[in-house]
Amino acid sequence: MISVGIIGGTGYTGKKLIQYCSSHPFVDDYKIYSGKSAGENLYDYFPGLVGLINNTKINSVNDLSYEHDLYFIALPHGESLNYVPSLIANGKYVIDLGGDYRLDVDKLYEQSYKYSHTSPDLLKTKIYGLADYPEINYEDFKLVANPGCYPTAVLLSLLPLVENLSEKILTVSCIAYSGTSGAGKKATTELMLSEMDGNVKAYKVNGHQHEPEILQQLAKKGFNSSFSFTTHLLPVATGIYLTTSVHLTEAIHSEEVNEIYNDVYKNSSFIRLRNTPPELKWVVDTNFCDINVTVKDKVIIITTAIDNLIKGASGQAVQNMNKIFGWDETLGILNKEIKDAAVY
Ligand SMILES: NC(=O)c1ccc[n+]([C@@H]2O[C@H](COP(=O)([O-])OP(=O)(O)OC[C@H]3O[C@@H](n4cnc5c(N)ncnc54)[C@H](OP(=O)(O)O)[C@@H]3O)[C@@H](O)[C@H]2O)c1
Repeated sequence: MISVGIIGGTGYTGKKLIQYCSSHPFVDDYKIYSGKSAGENLYDYFPGLVGLINNTKINSVNDLSYEHDLYFIALPHGESLNYVPSLIANGKYVIDLGGDYRLDVDKLYEQSYKYSHTSPDLLKTKIYGLADYPEINYEDFKLVANPGCYPTAVLLSLLPLVENLSEKILTVSCIAYSGTSGAGKKATTELMLSEMDGNVKAYKVNGHQHEPEILQQLAKKGFNSSFSFTTHLLPVATGIYLTTSVHLTEAIHSEEVNEIYNDVYKNSSFIRLRNTPPELKWVVDTNFCDINVTVKDKVIIITTAIDNLIKGASGQAVQNMNKIFGWDETLGILNKEIKDAAVY
């Protein structure tokens, strides 16, 4: 049994973390820490959770203690830098849902997030927690940088190809769509219902802060081909939909490509390889990542859907917690008995 602190527990991803922790068989107790909402009751803050979780007072981050075994941090970019070093120095496990520790190099962080990094040494000692990719070894790591929502979708879609065919990849184009919850709960005019209802728009074209994170992870597998990443806002609250086009130097058979994906994800609990392009509604409110791959001559099209708040954040974070402690990765997230691993 462990005790958990959820820092930033009153935000969108924080709410999901509370739900997962309250139903997790090995989480004994948890405390919520936040900024402005400190002092309020959780039930007043999340009336929809009455009857689903126990009521509790929201604590201030200023009163953060080292009483917990593991801390989830779900704060806006830049804020984790204030808490991670002391938590790690006190021997605590930390899973940071934000972008402060995902990049390996502080200069890249400063370019992408416009903050100076105050604990660059920890960038080298963290693990990048793409929980569904089969190679991660969690031993000896205290700090897990939980991947960004878009990088989760892109990397789970592309890594199997890059790992197996990188020398044959000419270009990759990722066209991604996200619901408005991807920006968190802070109100901005462009995310208002009156702006987004009936609307779709591209944003941060050629400048999204997640692109360096994606390229960093792809480069580790030998990727150095041409890459583009274009993000759009969708008039829905939740979900990421991604279409990735991969152009190869030579034609390939679909059997070979399918074999690669089946092999990489053969033991995965949360990747569902689909025989038709997935729909957003199939994954919203779940920790699944649905992937369909189609091949025609030299072109591979991958369509992918995830819930940005769950697979792209809190569900993956709880999966990472399960892996840190050597528990079944599905604990608290999925009724494993129901899972059918076959392609459907
Ligand atoms: N939303 C997504 O789809 C998504 C996906 C992947 C990763 N992430 C990352 O996860 C993190 C949290 O995202 P979110 O969408 O849950 O954000 P959010 O809805 O804006 O929530 C932010 C939380 O941080 C607290 N907070 C804000 N400023 C603070 C400060 N100065 N001191 C202490 N607490 C503070 C807020 O509490 P008060 O209001 O009480 O201050 C709230 O609990 C971000 O780094 C984000 O990039 C988000």
